[in-house]
Amino acid sequence: MWSRYNMLIFALVAATSFPPVHVLEFCTDRDCHSDSHDNMASSTSQLSENTFKSRWNISVSNLMQDLDKFRVSCKKLIEAFPIDEVDGNSARSVKNCIFSRSIPTPLKGPLRLAAASKEVIEGILDLDVAVTWSDDFLHYASGGRLAPGSVPLAHRYGGHQFGYWAGQLGDGRAHSLGQYTNRKGEVWELQLKGSGKTPYSRSGDGRAVIRSSVREFLCSEAMHSLGVPTSRAASLIVSDEPVVRDQFYNGNMKTERGAVVLRLAKSWFRIGSLEILSQSGEIDLLRKLLFFVIEEHFPSINSDDPDKYLVFYSTVVNETAHLIAQWMSVGFAHGVCNTDNFSLLSITIDYGPFGFMESYNPNFVPNTSDDEGRYSIGAQANVGLFNLEKLLTALGPLLSNKQQSEAKYILKGYVDIYHMRIHQLFKAKLGLLGEEEDDGHLIAFLLKIMEDTQSDFTMTFRQLSEVSAQQLHSRSFTQMWALEDLSSHKLFFDWLSMYQHRLIGQQDDSDLDRQQRMKNVNPRYVLRNWMAESAISKAEMNDFSEVEMLHYILSFPFVTQETAEEAGYAARPPLWAKRLKVSCSS
Ligand SMILES: *[C@@H]1O[C@H](CO)[C@@H](O)[C@H](O)[C@H]1NC(C)=O
Ligand SMILES: *[C@@H]1O[C@H](CO)[C@@H](O)[C@H](O)[C@H]1NC(C)=O
Ligand SMILES: *[C@@H]1O[C@H](CO)[C@@H](O)[C@H](O)[C@H]1NC(C)=O
Ligand SMILES: *[C@@H]1O[C@H](CO)[C@@H](O)[C@H](O)[C@H]1NC(C)=O
Repeated sequence: MWSRYNMLIFALVAATSFPPVHVLEFCTDRDCHSDSHDNMASSTSQLSENTFKSRWNISVSNLMQDLDKFRVSCKKLIEAFPIDEVDGNSARSVKNCIFSRSIPTPLKGPLRLAAASKEVIEGILDLDVAVTWSDDFLHYASGGRLAPGSVPLAHRYGGHQFGYWAGQLGDGRAHSLGQYTNRKGEVWELQLKGSGKTPYSRSGDGRAVIRSSVREFLCSEAMHSLGVPTSRAASLIVSDEPVVRDQFYNGNMKTERGAVVLRLAKSWFRIGSLEILSQSGEIDLLRKLLFFVIEEHFPSINSDDPDKYLVFYSTVVNETAHLIAQWMSVGFAHGVCNTDNFSLLSITIDYGPFGFMESYNPNFVPNTSDDEGRYSIGAQANVGLFNLEKLLTALGPLLSNKQQSEAKYILKGYVDIYHMRIHQLFKAKLGLLGEEEDDGHLIAFLLKIMEDTQSDFTMTFRQLSEVSAQQLHSRSFTQMWALEDLSSHKLFFDWLSMYQHRLIGQQDDSDLDRQQRMKNVNPRYVLRNWMAESAISKAEMNDFSEVEMLHYILSFPFVTQETAEEAGYAARPPLWAKRLKVSCSS
């Protein structure tokens, strides 16, 4: 009887333990880790805001105070590949290169720093966050000035969009500024998004509006704090430059304002980066790009290994399955899972019409124009499979027949990896230790009840983490709105009995430990659309306080915070949230 539900969860949402919770990244080496556990374990989880303020404020020594000392390098990227021979930003079809030189177009009008991520600025870029308050920073971080060593580049790639080969795409409004090697020896590629036209802009203006930029800034940082691999955002600069957009693709043009996000990733290469080379028969270049990617980003692969492409492929298959399982475990729908929006490093990139699911619904589609639900949350695992098939096609010219069939076999393993990972993640969400035969059933049964009662995905799991064994026993869920919703289901108490029985069977586990484990993987706060919308409407009037507040709160998604509670971020969503349409154009 329950097999259908098993299918459901597997259609829906897969390794060993949930990744470390990045709750205390801001602390200095000295006080890190030692007290982090105690804080998380404090039975109430109610750390005062001041505790956090002071954490944010702990300064790292030897940070660069002077922006002029900040240097990036483009040498590696430029020397590794042939560069487009044509200069200038006119839209064109580009061949035989990986990058085109492209100078950003500075934003017009007064510039304002709307947000900066101290964690990224100090922890990755080694800059004192105070430098972001300077005029120089506004210019560097919006394309008006180039850091020493920077040769801005636009990347040529292609991709399958909504199931079909779309030909040449490329960075149409993003500029790579170069690589920065930080004090930890990590290499990060800096990119501006919204910084003007490139040869890949097609009919676009190369700009991004405040709305979509606030969303990218907030969500990429929030995803990181949730422990999901992602690109990062350093800053958000807004301008007065008018940018005209048809927000809902319904013919209503509206003048908005331009903004630029300074974003970072270890690499911005996508599945589409390889596809375009394969499709256009540029096989030498395909080999070169793969060599580069493997050398730089897959250190465990030996470049003399005759099967190196297979090992590469199997790594990407594995990591992609893991990534999508993580998305599912936090209810994240990316919204545009085209092959060009899928990173070769399997990190989350290209934040557009994404959304966090509120009521549990496998058909949740964040892009309101995606009528067919191609990129619904429950379809993401399948779309991942589709994209990996396209990656295999792109690698085709470099594989022998035997390797081709081995690669197909590797791809077949994707589904199992995904299922395994989902199973582990959801078991952790329920606080389950060890493995029992009925665990899959227990998870699927719960999801079915959640679907029927439209209970809130995030808060149902959170409140199950916060509820004590005693409360479970007495079935008293006062003040727990998501569990109250759930308990309206006629099978809820059947499920609850099963769950209690499973928990009681866990020897050497205390109720407090169980709660703590669960609270570390079930966030209390995610970036719900209505929260973002409210911050955006203020930002559009140059009030960035709510962006800052959200950024701050979402950096500690697993910890109950007073300001967040006051703002209603863990409460039942306001009525207007239901009517909200996510703006798709960006
Ligand atoms: C850090 O704390 C000091 C003293 O409390 C305060 O003056 C300063 O503004 C804080 N800096 C930041 C970046 O919050
Ligand atoms: C698959 O990816 C996960 C997540 O990155 C990693 O922990 C695991 O070791 C990988 N497994 C294999 C076989 O590479
Ligand atoms: C995904 O890639 C397409 C093609 O380059 C691009 O138009 C779109 O903006 C990307 N999506 C996001 C959210 O960046
Ligand atoms: C939303 O879906 C529609 C329909 O498939 C598509 O045309 C549009 O490009 C999507 N929006 C974004 C931002 O990807």
